[in-house]
Amino acid sequence: MSDILGDWKRSHYCGDLRAEQIGEDVCLMGWVHRRRDHGGLIFIDLRDRTGIAQLALDPDRDPEAHGKAENVRNEFVVAAIGKVSPRPEGTVNSKMKTGEVEIEIRELRILSEAKTPPFMLDEFTEVAENLRLKYRYLDLRRDSVQSNLIMRHKVAQTVRNYLTNNDFLEIETPVLTKSTPEGARDYLVPSRVNLGEFYALPQSPQLFKQLLMVAGFDRYFQIVRCFRDEDLRADRQPEFTQIDCELSFVDRDDIMTIMESMIADIFKAALDVDLDLPMPRMTYAEVIDRYGVDNPDLRFEMELQDITSLVSGCGFKVFANVAAKGGLVKALNAKGCATFSRKVLDDLTDFAGIYGAKGLAWVKIQEDGSWQSPIAKFFTEEELKALAEKLEAAPGDLLLFVADSPGIANEALGRLRGHLGHKLGLTDPNSYRFVWVTDFPLLEWDGEERRHMAVHHPFTAPLDEDIPLLDSDPGKARSKAYDLVLNGSEIGGGSIRIHDQAVQSRMFNLLGIGEEEARQKFGFLLDALEFGAPPHGGIAFGLDRVMMILTGAESIRDVIAFPKTQKATCLMSEAPGSVDEKQLRELGIRLAARNKQA
Ligand code: AMO
Ligand code: AMP
Repeated sequence: MSDILGDWKRSHYCGDLRAEQIGEDVCLMGWVHRRRDHGGLIFIDLRDRTGIAQLALDPDRDPEAHGKAENVRNEFVVAAIGKVSPRPEGTVNSKMKTGEVEIEIRELRILSEAKTPPFMLDEFTEVAENLRLKYRYLDLRRDSVQSNLIMRHKVAQTVRNYLTNNDFLEIETPVLTKSTPEGARDYLVPSRVNLGEFYALPQSPQLFKQLLMVAGFDRYFQIVRCFRDEDLRADRQPEFTQIDCELSFVDRDDIMTIMESMIADIFKAALDVDLDLPMPRMTYAEVIDRYGVDNPDLRFEMELQDITSLVSGCGFKVFANVAAKGGLVKALNAKGCATFSRKVLDDLTDFAGIYGAKGLAWVKIQEDGSWQSPIAKFFTEEELKALAEKLEAAPGDLLLFVADSPGIANEALGRLRGHLGHKLGLTDPNSYRFVWVTDFPLLEWDGEERRHMAVHHPFTAPLDEDIPLLDSDPGKARSKAYDLVLNGSEIGGGSIRIHDQAVQSRMFNLLGIGEEEARQKFGFLLDALEFGAPPHGGIAFGLDRVMMILTGAESIRDVIAFPKTQKATCLMSEAPGSVDEKQLRELGIRLAARNKQA
């Protein structure tokens, strides 16, 4: 079997053949995409990762090769030698890169046979995703996922080049490690050598990259797998890849400037798109005020307006009461949407309800400028006029209102804004709108646990001017954290770190992490901060999310070679699976509940 190829060497990829090669002898190897029998002449579309070339087999010219071609089926692997020729008049296919030529085959070898695939491997057939994932190696033969992965390689390569040229060193950090606090559950790995003890898979290399700064590496990066046991969504996987960076002796602006140039290089390499730099920057307070959420889609306007002061004395009790209790009444103008039916308005109300809104008041501006609305009767002429002015209401517009606590009013209306943007087709897939969101709150209150949690992570530095607030009103303190948001998706986040051991201890205190717990969890970091830690900061980008946007993929699974399902399983390898009794015994583990297979 070893000499099945004999002295045959592939000379070209299928997709690379052009009219320039006419007259040349070539040797191609690949998969039979399709075979057509034209009563005598046989055509084979031969496919490899670069594309498809048409092989022509003529029974008169080469009876032996033609005879073999008669036995060839879809997805057989074959090698073929022949001469590149122009396609006959009228058969040129301008839709194919190789559509001007075909290869007149003299010799054909079948290298491997194939069963009939469980689904058609073309771009036109919709295949259930579960079936695609079970036979992922066949699914990956299809052009769409394959080209996504080829682009992913190009992006990774661009990142490596850019960072290397900017003095970053690629350094690996451990996968068997201790818990890193990024807010998700850990994946645990039992230790056989240390019975009863567990490693945690890293949620990110956060602690190690900070230690590399203490060690003096100055600029670090890694394209690294991270593991988070959290509820999965369309843009989340239990294991995903970060472009992880850390730098010493820099401030926030330095980091944002260096990183946005890297993003620009990525867009140039992947899409040949030139981005405008510098990217806009907005504080968290500003994005929440204008868009309601911290990951706004800036491809369209439809900004939220705070109308609390305009309605604080109005006759609509819901609004007046919320205003009196220190809540917010916010509104947006969906231009031209007065035609929405009752049913659509009910759906929008349900949508806002997902984010806690207790209702969604609406106003349709009629052709004559009058208000059609269940709540219009509660407002005076002056109030209506002031609202119309603030919301720039014009005939045909739909005004939507949510009154609630600031958190709910902003989030519900902000999400509704995003939802409407999609629904109204305002989210041009070829437009790329970036924004750096800065000055995040340092802490958020966790009502269930009744303590403060770090918004980014516990190593993030507070703004210098807010340090006094740590004692007086910690909930108001802002941090040196930043996110990069693209088209409504958080593609990266980072911060300047605390490099002073005393501040770090104070931070743990605020988070309700006692001294003993802090020592036990991050003692090595606290120790390191006492041995000369440089000022440092960093960022991590979600490579999978960046790839989703670059490729226009609907699902994060379409940019990962072997992804997991929403239930964190691999349908192909059937991971996770049960293990032998013996393995468990060696690990000192006895299962309280048997799994389904056992
Ligand atoms: P953070 O937790 O914000 O920061 O993660 C950085 C980026 O990783 C992506 N991301 C994910 N992508 C796919 N699936 C997931 N489950 C998932 N979780 C996160 C997001 C996010 O912006 N150590 C810090 C970074 C730092 O401070 O330097 C960190 O991990 O795009
Ligand atoms: P009601 O008086 O409860 O029938 O409400 C009249 C209108 O106000 C309905 O369209 C409700 O959806 C809306 N509404 C009720 N509560 C709120 C709220 N908190 N914010 C915005 N609109 C509300």
